[in-house]
Amino acid sequence: MSELGPMILNVKGLHKSFEDKDVLKGIDLELYRGQIVALIGSSGSGKSTLLRCVNLLEEISDGQIFLNDEDISEPTINQDEVRRQIGLVFQAYNLFAHLSIEENITLALRHVKGLSTAEAKAKALALLDRIGLADKADEYPDKLSGGQQQRTAIMRAVALEPTLLLLDEVTSALDPELVGEVLELIRDLKAGGTSILMATHELTFARDVADWVVFLDGGVIIEEGPAKEFFGNPQNPRTIEFLQRLRRRAGDA
Ligand SMILES: Nc1ncnc2c1ncn2[C@@H]1O[C@H](COP(=O)(O)OP(=O)(O)O)[C@@H](O)[C@H]1O
Ligand SMILES: [Mg+2]
Repeated sequence: MSELGPMILNVKGLHKSFEDKDVLKGIDLELYRGQIVALIGSSGSGKSTLLRCVNLLEEISDGQIFLNDEDISEPTINQDEVRRQIGLVFQAYNLFAHLSIEENITLALRHVKGLSTAEAKAKALALLDRIGLADKADEYPDKLSGGQQQRTAIMRAVALEPTLLLLDEVTSALDPELVGEVLELIRDLKAGGTSILMATHELTFARDVADWVVFLDGGVIIEEGPAKEFFGNPQNPRTIEFLQRLRRRAGDA
């Protein structure tokens, strides 16, 4: 087992309820630098809520969240400053439709990173080049495939050099033939050292690329472990049932 780097994210005893509904019921989660931690679980199990809590888009009901040893769940924390350190990409509709894909990236670089127009343009083009879309820089999102849009959205987040990247089922809305190119980009980002917490239904990808897998069910972590062990030898009957169900569905497709 390789040596763990510094802990980037440490979620302790996290609870989240909406009115009287408990959605997250005591989540503990650690993510070390350069890791991919994959969150899996049925629809409604609380994956998006967990990601939104980490990004401070939801106020937590109890517990603590540490980013690089800083308690970001403290009421006095500068939330905008924290969000600048955490990138979040959703299932779909991430890009501003009225801006070209280059402008989608330069806007963030100028406003968040304070880059000049020329610097932002050069960086955006370099990032688009990395995903093979430099020749499409002036196109609007609706002229791109879903896979190209998602790769642009991920690069826009990466442009800000986040401490942590959150990906919420970024391939779920894509046609099956476009999923691979997005997963390939995530694999590249990991190779480059990006720390990623991702909700996903892509079991093969999670098995091959994630360092740690967390199975969430009803707002509780039912089982977790290193990817190979988790998929190779799941212990909990609910984990086994969930994996079988997803595989059956994938087989049907
Ligand atoms: N803003 C909200 N208000 C009330 N209930 C919510 C809200 N957001 C999520 N929930 C509920 O929390 C549960 C978990 O949802 P979610 O985190 O989206 O799960 P997942 O991403 O795993 O599908 C669901 O029962 C959902 O209805
Ligand atoms: Mg979700």
